[in-house]
Amino acid sequence: MNKMNTNNKVIGKLSGVLLFYLFALLPLSKAQVPLLQNVQAYEGMSLNGDWHYIVDVQEEGYYDYRMKPTRWGFFRNAKPQHPEDLIEYDFDQSPTMQIPSDWNTQDERLFFYEGTVWFMRRFQAVPMQDYRTLLYFGAVNYDCHVWVNGKKAGHHVGGFTPFNFDISDLLVDGENVIIVKVDNKRHAEDVPTQIFDWWNYGGITRDVRLVKVTPVYLEDYDLHVVGGSAADAKGKTCTLAFSARLNKAEAGHKVVVSIPELKLEQPFTTGADGTVSGTLKVSRKKLVLWSPEHPKLYDVRLSLDTSTYADEIGFRTIETRDKQILLNGQPIFLKGISIHNEKPNGGGRANSAADARTLLSWAKELGCNFVRLAHYPHHEEMVREAEKMGILVWSEIPVYWTIDWANPATYENARCQLRDMIARDHNRANVIIWSIANETPHSTERDTFLGNLAQYARSLDNTRLISMAMEVTGASNYVNRLNDNMNKYVDVVSFNQYVGWYRDVNDAPKMRWEIPYNKPVIISEFGGGAKYGYHGAKNQRWTEEFQENLYIQNLAMLDKIDGLAGTTPWILKDFRSPRRVLPGIQDYYNRKGLFSDKGEKKKAFYVLKQWYEVK
Ligand code: GCU
Repeated sequence: MNKMNTNNKVIGKLSGVLLFYLFALLPLSKAQVPLLQNVQAYEGMSLNGDWHYIVDVQEEGYYDYRMKPTRWGFFRNAKPQHPEDLIEYDFDQSPTMQIPSDWNTQDERLFFYEGTVWFMRRFQAVPMQDYRTLLYFGAVNYDCHVWVNGKKAGHHVGGFTPFNFDISDLLVDGENVIIVKVDNKRHAEDVPTQIFDWWNYGGITRDVRLVKVTPVYLEDYDLHVVGGSAADAKGKTCTLAFSARLNKAEAGHKVVVSIPELKLEQPFTTGADGTVSGTLKVSRKKLVLWSPEHPKLYDVRLSLDTSTYADEIGFRTIETRDKQILLNGQPIFLKGISIHNEKPNGGGRANSAADARTLLSWAKELGCNFVRLAHYPHHEEMVREAEKMGILVWSEIPVYWTIDWANPATYENARCQLRDMIARDHNRANVIIWSIANETPHSTERDTFLGNLAQYARSLDNTRLISMAMEVTGASNYVNRLNDNMNKYVDVVSFNQYVGWYRDVNDAPKMRWEIPYNKPVIISEFGGGAKYGYHGAKNQRWTEEFQENLYIQNLAMLDKIDGLAGTTPWILKDFRSPRRVLPGIQDYYNRKGLFSDKGEKKKAFYVLKQWYEVK
């Protein structure tokens, strides 16, 4: 087939090849910049709303018929200039969908769709002398290319973390066009890899914003209380540690931190590397520490030269001592539940504070003080609403099941997702655990991969606990053992177990656990499925009575586990999964929720609620 690329006048095949190499050789455009801390604090313009979209199954808009990236792609947003011109796409004539959202629940033709969809919207902008403009995405699943006015702004991989590009030099005065190519196809080398037990919602799933920053801005800052029980108990004062980094390595910039309510104000001056760090002292009596009972947040003002930014920050300490987890120096039991980032009713990615409040209020109804946000960083509003509601958070990157451990690109991908998860939420007092993986098979490559990730996480943030969801390593004669090399890298030993569902139905009472580590234990998953409203004998699978009985038995079993410091049963609500196909029962839902997909409480809900009342 001698197909000429018909979307525009074409150049010879040779030039196509040349361009590909050029394209491939071109580094990621300089527009990609490190993640901006606390983007909400900046002036800007939301680009949420209606975006045109084109479903491009064979990536006609990106590759030529030799599967070489074409420079005549859809990113040009070309229009016929002459009557004989042949342009075979038109964004303006194409349908629109609300952004942020996933395409699966916005267009029923795309319910199962995995592939490329192009998005386009126009916006008015005025290039500004004294400011830079960042283009910020809360998250795009999975592989995303961005153009502004036909020029490449950047590329990002990973479906659950934010990223931003400096597009100042791409803007024109007046109408601008942004085009985004999103591809959510799965590959073995990706993170997550090819198979996972949740819906592969595709699209621009979180907020899009234009952000106005001064040429020199506060790229990142951190403010937290230092020390743990030891330091606190004795001292009359508490120490707050502050550090910040500018987007430029420039000395002499004045950074001032102030907490009006504590009558605290402290100036700092950047060094040659554009960073500052130091401490602020506050009397112990005055400082109210953040806790589930008192989710105290302080208004914090940060100024850089003449610009001022506001944030809300809470102060607390988190640590372990032997098998205990200590919050503000006191042992705490983490009464948790696992949650997927899915809308409370029906399906689709949760993408607002309202979605978060609904899901978290269900967790509160259960009696929870803790949530495991599985298996990837959730929407920022989920973390911030939990912080306001006094709910502690376990946050995780999607290193899930069998990742391509020996592949350096896969490691780099996972490392970047870990970096950005921490970069976004490191000032949130309620986030206490960074989780680097879930249910990963033992091997030397895996241990190296995860060991490096754990150390990297600690190098970025040594004020929080590191963990991962391990698996039971061996079980015989009702003795369950945990034996995982990763125990030396984690602060909390967490594992998933499915006694009563995937194995040993009705044997939970007989079970004994051997966990040979002097560290706190979290059961990061247990549970079983039930179809809401389906009732019957307690040994009848899928009935609410079966799930209820499983919870009764499992919780009694958990009560006997030495060093148990918390649990996050699987899961708050039924969620969409392509792996769950049982007709009339699952219908593409994992039914292990304590709430149905419509928010109806199942019998097991009350079993866990009661257990948490006495915990
Ligand atoms: C696993 C896994 C979850 C999954 C659950 C299940 O443990 O971590 O992602 O949904 O089991 O089987 O329901």
